[in-house]
Amino acid sequence: MSAASAPFELSADQVASFRERGFLVVPSITSASEVASLRDTLQQLFDRRAGWHEGAQFGLLGDADDGEASLTQLVQPVNYAPELRDTEFRRNAAAIAKQLLGDAAMPSFEHSILKRAHDGAATPWHQDEAYRASDAFEYEQLSIWMPLQDVSEEQGCMQYIPGSHRRGILPHHRVKGDQAAHSIECDRSTFDPQMAVACPLSAGGAVIHLGRTLHCAGANTTAVARLAYVLAFELPPQPATTPRDFHWNAGRASAELARRRRWLLRGGIVIEVVRRARYHELYRPRRLAFELRRLIDRVTALFPHRVVRRR
Ligand code: NI
Repeated sequence: MSAASAPFELSADQVASFRERGFLVVPSITSASEVASLRDTLQQLFDRRAGWHEGAQFGLLGDADDGEASLTQLVQPVNYAPELRDTEFRRNAAAIAKQLLGDAAMPSFEHSILKRAHDGAATPWHQDEAYRASDAFEYEQLSIWMPLQDVSEEQGCMQYIPGSHRRGILPHHRVKGDQAAHSIECDRSTFDPQMAVACPLSAGGAVIHLGRTLHCAGANTTAVARLAYVLAFELPPQPATTPRDFHWNAGRASAELARRRRWLLRGGIVIEVVRRARYHELYRPRRLAFELRRLIDRVTALFPHRVVRRR
């Protein structure tokens, strides 16, 4: 499919299924050749630990945060590989986001996750929106998760609880009760893991889920590392109308957060502003207003003791 071809469009049945279940499997979102080049590019970024000193690459579970972690994340890989800017995956994902969320849907952020071969750790059950630091705004968001090799249950494909997107934000806690862990986990008493639907996929397929759809990914016990690339989109955040309590995000003390804070204070803030202006197209007034709201959220999360919270 070329850039000039018709935009990617979900069928009415696919849209209805997504609204009903909170997630949707799409058999193919980009070409095999693009998958191969994305896999090369992202693997190289993990190999050279791109963004590590900026706090952009880190172990998700806090057990090993030195590049040897069993589950490693790179936030905004596009900052370290400009060739990721213009891809069929990105174009098709943006079209899907607008179809599902509405025309106001904008790119929110992106990340890549490397689940090591043989003993890649499981990703705990969670709702993405529960990672939000702020109780001031509500978000309507979705993620488009694409594996860069075929992914089976044994390799850690995504799993979902159908209909969980209608339950609001469920209570979470930090993995192992460890404030140094990046990852959070939904309290087991609030849902039944037996209801999980596993979503094995071919390379270049995708699964789409909402910010409140409860999901996890199993461990990787195969000999092949599991690499995934995720693009997230959201509508402009709205002031929260009901009280929200994200206590599990208070007092986070992960190593990557410390690296990020140090990098920002040593001048990285200038680079960050330029990157954001580009990623979020801040020369457009509507996008600028949108990003300013998000910035309030991010700053209060990063420097929780230095900002007086509005109540
Ligand atoms: Ni998630």
